[in-house]
Amino acid sequence: MLTFAIFSLLLHFAMQASPPLDQVFQYIDEHQDDYVQHLKEWIAIQSESSNPTKRDDVIRMMQVVGETIKRLGGTVELTDVGNEELPSGKIIPLPPVVLGKLGKDPNKTTVGIYGHVDVQPARFEDGWSTDPYLLTEKDGNLYGRGSSDDKGPVLAWLHAIEAFQALKQELPVNLKFIFEGMEESGSKGLDELLKAKNETFFSNIDYIVISDSAWLSKKPALTYGTRGLCYFIIEVQCANQDLHSGLYGGTVHEAMTDLIALLDSLVNSTGYVLIPGIDSDVVPLTNEERVLYKEIEFNLEAFKHTIGTTELLHKTKEDVLLHRWRFPSLSIHGIEGAFSGPGAKTVIPAKVTGKFSIRLVPNMDPDKLSNQVMTYLNGVFAARGSPNQMQVALESGSKAWVAHVTDKQYDAGRRAISKVFGVEAELIREGGTIPVARSLQHTTQKSVMMLPIGSPDDRIHSQDEKLSRDNYINGTKLFAAYIAEISQH
Ligand SMILES: *[C@@H]1O[C@H](CO)[C@@H](O)[C@H](O)[C@H]1NC(C)=O
Ligand SMILES: *[C@@H]1O[C@H](CO)[C@@H](O)[C@H](O)[C@H]1NC(C)=O
Ligand SMILES: *[C@@H]1O[C@H](CO)[C@@H](O)[C@H](O)[C@H]1NC(C)=O
Ligand SMILES: *[C@@H]1O[C@H](CO)[C@@H](O)[C@H](O)[C@H]1NC(C)=O
Ligand SMILES: [Zn+2]
Repeated sequence: MLTFAIFSLLLHFAMQASPPLDQVFQYIDEHQDDYVQHLKEWIAIQSESSNPTKRDDVIRMMQVVGETIKRLGGTVELTDVGNEELPSGKIIPLPPVVLGKLGKDPNKTTVGIYGHVDVQPARFEDGWSTDPYLLTEKDGNLYGRGSSDDKGPVLAWLHAIEAFQALKQELPVNLKFIFEGMEESGSKGLDELLKAKNETFFSNIDYIVISDSAWLSKKPALTYGTRGLCYFIIEVQCANQDLHSGLYGGTVHEAMTDLIALLDSLVNSTGYVLIPGIDSDVVPLTNEERVLYKEIEFNLEAFKHTIGTTELLHKTKEDVLLHRWRFPSLSIHGIEGAFSGPGAKTVIPAKVTGKFSIRLVPNMDPDKLSNQVMTYLNGVFAARGSPNQMQVALESGSKAWVAHVTDKQYDAGRRAISKVFGVEAELIREGGTIPVARSLQHTTQKSVMMLPIGSPDDRIHSQDEKLSRDNYINGTKLFAAYIAEISQH
């Protein structure tokens, strides 16, 4: 009995003194300069997916990702997803999607990791302080296009795995990788691939984790929802040529006047969307859910300061976040064909095209919304009695995504965050649209979680994109901890 007690105590002590994860963390700390160097190599590849002249760079990037997985002992398929037709009619190949596998122990949980290694275009002349494709470290930040979105997070996963291996620790999970090169250009080809591989590659995946977004504050977060988007255009035509207001003003039903009235009918000055029925499918907010918002760290003053505004549409932190993530919103983006140059040109535009969009939340449906919008705008237009031609069209539509936060992987994510950062995870949503989260969940019917490591001030898609060294390295630890935690299910 006593010997057993001592044995237990010793065992307990041994586990406390050097639990395997602590060794992994230490290894990650010691190798952080290598990880930065590795990121530098990836950032040097100008994998801009929207730029056809860089398509070879994107393809090379996919090969580099594949080789990195192979070096970890994984198997890789560079999966052909077809071609892309450019507006010019020219046809170029889409970059292959990297589907990788590491481990196939039937007794272990299988985790699918999604990321992307294409980037938004970047030029030094756009106003960058440093060469966007030369990783530059300054004040603890790693500047370069793709550092935060999304090459840094993808590498952090691969480094976390490599750390287990270097320490000869058995990986406690099987891993599958889904790394694409068209995310910044609508993930072309991915939906078809998910469907085609649903019964094979995806069938034995238990959980899918995405690291392609950011925290809301300095507190690490788990993201469980994103809004969808419907983009509309309204076209109004009053003449077959632009007219001079001195000659024709006072004689015609002007297209621009109609368009402004139509746009003005969409939303009132307190931000309320005036389209009848728009709220009919919005999932009602529960009290439990509202409580979640109370606990979120979000500084309204800092938010206002970032925007450069003195007053927001809503007064409290909860209401601002709810309207950013949880309720639909409507924004007017622009008018094509309207005079917008300097000076006082007296033109009456013949044809103008207004552009607006609505962010969708669960359970709004793009087709139903589109019908509501068209019925409403046709009614507003008819009431004006204008003889002009007016057309409303839905340019693109995608649904919102929301995960089940009670899924086991959210527990694992929470525990991993508290292990690495010593704080409770913040549960957040995104106001923007990350269609792949919904596609993955909807097609494969697996649990999907977003486990971001970026900061809200990383300036993704913008000049001087960065990832802090702290987030990169602590993020690598977070992924290692997640792997350890999720294996216990
Ligand atoms: C899986 O677990 C069972 C029961 O513990 C064991 O008999 C079997 O050998 C394990 N399979 C592998 C591949 O480790
Ligand atoms: C906007 O519409 C909502 C709902 O009808 C209303 O409560 C609000 O007062 C309106 N705002 C203004 C400025 O009219
Ligand atoms: C994040 O990383 C930095 C440097 O690697 C470290 O000093 C800091 O303690 C880490 N933060 C947490 C909360 O672990
Ligand atoms: C994909 O496979 C899962 C089972 O792994 C199934 O539940 C789901 O319905 C399938 N999706 C499609 C689109 O067939
Ligand atoms: Zn991204």
